Amino acid sequence: MALLEVKNLGISFGGLRAVDDFNISVEHRQLYGLIGPNGAGKTTVFNLLTGVYKPTRGTFSLDGVVLTGKSPIEISRAGIARTFQNIRLFKNMTVLDNVKTGLHNHQKYTAIEGIFRLPRYFKEEAGMDEQAMDLLHVFGLDEKADHLACNLPYGEQRKLEIARALATDPKLLLLDEPAAGMNPNETAELMETIRFVRDRFGIAILLIEHDMRLVAGICEQLTVLNFGTELAHGEVDEVLKDPKVITAYLGE
Ligand SMILES: Nc1ncnc2c1ncn2[C@@H]1O[C@H](COP(=O)(O)OP(=O)(O)OP(=O)(O)O)[C@@H](O)[C@H]1O
Ligand SMILES: [Mg+2]
Repeated sequence: MALLEVKNLGISFGGLRAVDDFNISVEHRQLYGLIGPNGAGKTTVFNLLTGVYKPTRGTFSLDGVVLTGKSPIEISRAGIARTFQNIRLFKNMTVLDNVKTGLHNHQKYTAIEGIFRLPRYFKEEAGMDEQAMDLLHVFGLDEKADHLACNLPYGEQRKLEIARALATDPKLLLLDEPAAGMNPNETAELMETIRFVRDRFGIAILLIEHDMRLVAGICEQLTVLNFGTELAHGEVDEVLKDPKVITAYLGE
């Protein structure tokens, strides 16, 4: 059974069918790419899969659990995490605290225990510091744990956002244009990071990206969206030389 199963998913905004009859199967540990022109509906797919938008049609499930209609918090707990096309960090919080916001998904102490600083609060907070530092270490950010997120260079902010998403302990990670705004060196390093994350955490990754070198370099399967509907899907080499895809998206 595939990890993520999406069937006939769709949403309309007014008269616009932003995503229509969208189907995808992502296997455990797969690196899957979602590509297509601007406005094709890629980010909208992520918003549907994270519960930001409720689909007008269709269903999706993770590991056999139907998640259609669930809230963003329920979906996060079920194991889908994401990063955003425009980086969204808590800019005036430290690097460490940004990662800890992800860990709070699994916090066990109650609000009362937190407010009155009861023993379980301290025990769990200490455990969370340690886990967050471990994650930062993976991304080479542990020495900047007490820096404010806004003071990190762009490439490191992207990494921090991935670390925070991983802190929620996902089975599936959605990355929305992680290489946007990166130079070729940063992009090459990001490719290594994405592969490393898949191997180290054993999770599946669904990646939206316009950088075809990155897509071709790491993805195993691709789906191409155009005007909200699927134009092609399959093995990367096949899809990238499909005349339909070249005409609609890749150009010469
Ligand atoms: N909340 C919304 N209300 C109205 N229209 C929306 C909304 N969200 C997205 N759309 C529209 O849906 C279409 C798909 O947008 P989406 O952001 O998913 O595209 P995209 O493939 O991610 O594009 P890009 O590559 O530029 O990021 C666009 O026409 C967009 O204007
Ligand atoms: Mg987008």
